[in-house]
Amino acid sequence: MILQDPQSWLPVPASTFAPSVDGVWILTWWLCVFFFVLIAGLLAYAVFKWRRRTPDQPAASNTTHNTTLEVVWTVIPLIIMMVLFAWGWKGGMDMTVAPADCLQYQVKGKQWEWQIWHPGSTSPVVRDMYVPVNTNVRVTTYSEDVLHSFYIPAFRCKRDVLPGRYQMVWFNATRLSERDPETGELMPYPILCAEYCGRNHSYMLGNVYVVTQEEYDQRPWEVIPDDPVEYGQMIWERQCVACHTLDGSKLVGPTFQGLWGKTENLEDGSTVLVDREYVAESIRMPEAKRVAGYAGNNMTAYPDMTDEQVDAICAFLESLK
Ligand code: CUA
Repeated sequence: MILQDPQSWLPVPASTFAPSVDGVWILTWWLCVFFFVLIAGLLAYAVFKWRRRTPDQPAASNTTHNTTLEVVWTVIPLIIMMVLFAWGWKGGMDMTVAPADCLQYQVKGKQWEWQIWHPGSTSPVVRDMYVPVNTNVRVTTYSEDVLHSFYIPAFRCKRDVLPGRYQMVWFNATRLSERDPETGELMPYPILCAEYCGRNHSYMLGNVYVVTQEEYDQRPWEVIPDDPVEYGQMIWERQCVACHTLDGSKLVGPTFQGLWGKTENLEDGSTVLVDREYVAESIRMPEAKRVAGYAGNNMTAYPDMTDEQVDAICAFLESLK
């Protein structure tokens, strides 16, 4: 969900970049409106006022140019363009050069998910990113496969994510994530992929949660639910959601709906019962037993997935029967 700024059509402004980006956008918009009305209006007026009234009416003049007019309509747009250019250049430079005191995040884009390493974390979180409010955050991005683009509309921040090259983006989030009045859950600002990157490009989403420094210090991205089913669902949301649906539809991999306890047909013609042993193996070594019909769809291996996490995923799968 993208919160709308009630004052404009833009997403709610939630970073220090927003006033400048929105300012130049709104100025450009009103310039377009003004000149469209002026030019199209003058044109319509002239066409009507000086139309030929009889078939043999001679031309009223043979004017070829008007130097004053031409200078005016060249110089004024030039000045406007230079203002837009200077404003855009200043904003672009501010966004390119990160301050020295940033929190350092790393983001990897891959088809079709965002993996986020929080400061001081050795393992990534898929999709969910927590940042403290009013703090400079620097994100170093790279891609495992194709071009992606890391885009947080509410922060007005976007950078192409390239394979074989580190790209940097930074921001300072100024607006705390709100809590849903009914459930009390934090409502994230969306992270989008803004570069078409293949079939499931539109599924390549993420969430940024802007929290207070106290909440941030509790490292909410590492908090694990006590209930194994909830924990399993959290792992699914963070690691599996891009490829495995819960509604029976086929994405990159088989759906999780009705998977637990099912007998799967494998690529080599044999069958396997989907139990804890098979799930654990498929998480850690996805290529060991590949289900028929998924040739060429390579799942990321998770060799570091703990027994506790595997148990949680199994509990979650069981709950979906
Ligand atoms: Cu990644 Cu589009």
